[in-house]
Amino acid sequence: MNIIITKDYQELSEKACGIIEKQVNDKPDSVLGLATGGSPLGTYKQLINGCQERSVNYENVSTLNLDEYIGLDKNDPQSYHFFMKKHLFDHINIRSENTYIPNGKAVNLDVECERYEQLIDDIGPPDLQLLGIGQNGHIGFNEPGTSFQTKTHIIDLEESTRQANARFFDSLDMVPKQAITMGIQSILKSEKIVIIASGERKADAIRSLLEDEPDENMPASALRAHKHVTLIADEAAYQKAG
Ligand code: F6R
Repeated sequence: MNIIITKDYQELSEKACGIIEKQVNDKPDSVLGLATGGSPLGTYKQLINGCQERSVNYENVSTLNLDEYIGLDKNDPQSYHFFMKKHLFDHINIRSENTYIPNGKAVNLDVECERYEQLIDDIGPPDLQLLGIGQNGHIGFNEPGTSFQTKTHIIDLEESTRQANARFFDSLDMVPKQAITMGIQSILKSEKIVIIASGERKADAIRSLLEDEPDENMPASALRAHKHVTLIADEAAYQKAG
């Protein structure tokens, strides 16, 4: 695993942006795997600047997002569809028909999982997958205990995950209890993976990712089997490792 330690979140975001922009400049029809949540917000801000000020071109780029809450409409402000438009897609020259996110309102969710996994194979797999990491070590919404063999599937969110994400909702009650997520195996299909972690609350997960044996109770540890992973962590997230 390549490890990049940055002094703070700003530098982390700039580094992640630099890797993504290099990917897009080197291969203009790249497929990018994208994440939501707080961690990538700074990266997305930098990418928007890059598109607007450095002419990085997303015209032929496709994206596949990791996950979506079950039960939220695409236009719901808390949905990951809405998040991606608000924080990235509406501000870069990507074609909306080239952006893919699981449909959390599908009538048949099992069929939706199969359809999305097929999309990963047909459009992707991503040349580069951007990941955050949960305090409990989840990647995508693969909670501890998820098999490393999983493809896109439905997951019951852990209470700690719902609590961590409640900051984006009016109240904890409004945080959905389930999500559709790429599985661990789906994530590992990507050519390259960049995982970003900022802040002290991620320190235990990062220490475990780097030091403990791979274990399904620590979903991110599956990344140890991947040939091209870059961890970008700020000093606060890295403090307990090493
Ligand atoms: C989001 C996702 C999650 C988050 C993780 C960290 O699409 O897949 O794994 O990356 O929950 O969330 P933040 O960045 O909000 O701490």
